[in-house]
Amino acid sequence: MNARVNTADPSPGAFPLTPRSMPHVLLSLIRNPLDALPPEIFDEPVVFTRLGGKLRVYLADPELIYQALVRNSDALGKGEDVRRLLGPALGDGILTSDGAHWKWQRQSVAGAFRHEKLLELQPAMIAAAQRRRDLWLTHKDGALDLCQEMMRTTFDIIVETMMSGGEGIDVDRVERNITDYLKPTGWKFALGLLGAPEWMPHPGKEKAKAAVTFLRATLAKVIAERRRSGIERSDLVSMLLGAADPETGRTMNDEEIIDNLMTFITAGHETTALGLAWTLHLLARHSDCQARLFDEIAAATDGGPLLAEHVGKLTYARQVFSEAMRLYPPAPIISRAALREFTLGAYTIPAGTILYVPIYAVHRHASIWEDPLVFDPERFEPETAKSRHRFAFMPFGAGPRVCIGNGFAMMEAVAILAVLLQRFRVTGPNEPSPKPIMKVTLRPMHPLPIHLVER
Ligand code: HEM
Repeated sequence: MNARVNTADPSPGAFPLTPRSMPHVLLSLIRNPLDALPPEIFDEPVVFTRLGGKLRVYLADPELIYQALVRNSDALGKGEDVRRLLGPALGDGILTSDGAHWKWQRQSVAGAFRHEKLLELQPAMIAAAQRRRDLWLTHKDGALDLCQEMMRTTFDIIVETMMSGGEGIDVDRVERNITDYLKPTGWKFALGLLGAPEWMPHPGKEKAKAAVTFLRATLAKVIAERRRSGIERSDLVSMLLGAADPETGRTMNDEEIIDNLMTFITAGHETTALGLAWTLHLLARHSDCQARLFDEIAAATDGGPLLAEHVGKLTYARQVFSEAMRLYPPAPIISRAALREFTLGAYTIPAGTILYVPIYAVHRHASIWEDPLVFDPERFEPETAKSRHRFAFMPFGAGPRVCIGNGFAMMEAVAILAVLLQRFRVTGPNEPSPKPIMKVTLRPMHPLPIHLVER
């Protein structure tokens, strides 16, 4: 896409501001933050607005996104919105922190996500998918809530692979509490925009507080048990327990370890689960794509059970998952605050500006994608994908803060799809797809029903 940025007058006072109505934005934020995006951002490369006394810039041009998130990453911090929304649960962990504190945390866990390490985790991913499939085989009436099913599967995987089983965590209770925590997302954004103090009551606040207490106490028990047992494991818990800041040599205290375990548990299972749920929902409506997947899986496995070495061969499955994440990116909007002035295209962005990268809008942008609303995994054929800007498709973000779990997620998603589709065909009611709603992640407004037909 060519950046159609106004280059005539790049002085800071010359931003072509798009007027926005504060009451409309506030109401939209509370209902569904996706509706608060300026509609122009689905057609324009960049939209400037001023709301709540701050300049707010929405970026949809892949080149401008590259300039912001990659070239100027050191000028950007996660900002107040992120800390207000996620800080109570994730503290100052890897997702929410900035600067040197972020850097040493990222370096401390990088080893858990190296390709060779991920390959070792594949059998656990396949085994968890097989357990879910076996449960489905005993499920007689055929209709299931897809999101719940996928959340349980990816939760099993994250706890198994990153926490060596997690010493008896109650999955359903954890899931319910994560949902309670995320429910008032829109309220938090709206009150943040108004500059209201964090103690301000809002619907769902007390439940969210109780959820955090429960979740953090659950993880405190995991750490206490690991310390008590003295068993050394090569998992994330041990890495965090052994991590030391290279500059000061200090190790993480229990609160900091909990911040990070909370981050990995939440960021590491809900996103992939939602990506998979939307994928199966779309496959239920595209029997031709599903048939091609069946063929690919059969060819890769030679009709036998899926093994770790087959996963890399499932290139069409990757395309299907990518195309589903294009339409329904599990993390639909990311944001940053400018820590200092920097240059973006023809503009000088002042310190204090809030930048939004609405991945959801980039992935449906009229000047990047042909027929953007059509589900077409062929868009991710290697040759076609190569012809697009690298950041036209960015479900995992970009730059130094790119998702550390992206390789993990792709491997896991492909393995789960293959295991499930070896035994089941998915079908669904031919109704319009439920609207997506942003609760940090992109959930369907209504449950995604699915019917399973044994193959
Ligand atoms: C389909 C699945 C996933 C999607 C779409 C996704 C998306 C993202 C995005 C967009 C970011 C960047 C946020 C920003 O720039 O503000 C991010 C960061 C992160 N993700 Fe993921 N993610 C997924 C799976 C995972 C998994 C499986 C893990 C861990 C096992 C994980 C752990 C993290 C962490 C720790 C960060 C923060 C990285 C940092 O700031 O250095 N994610 N993810």
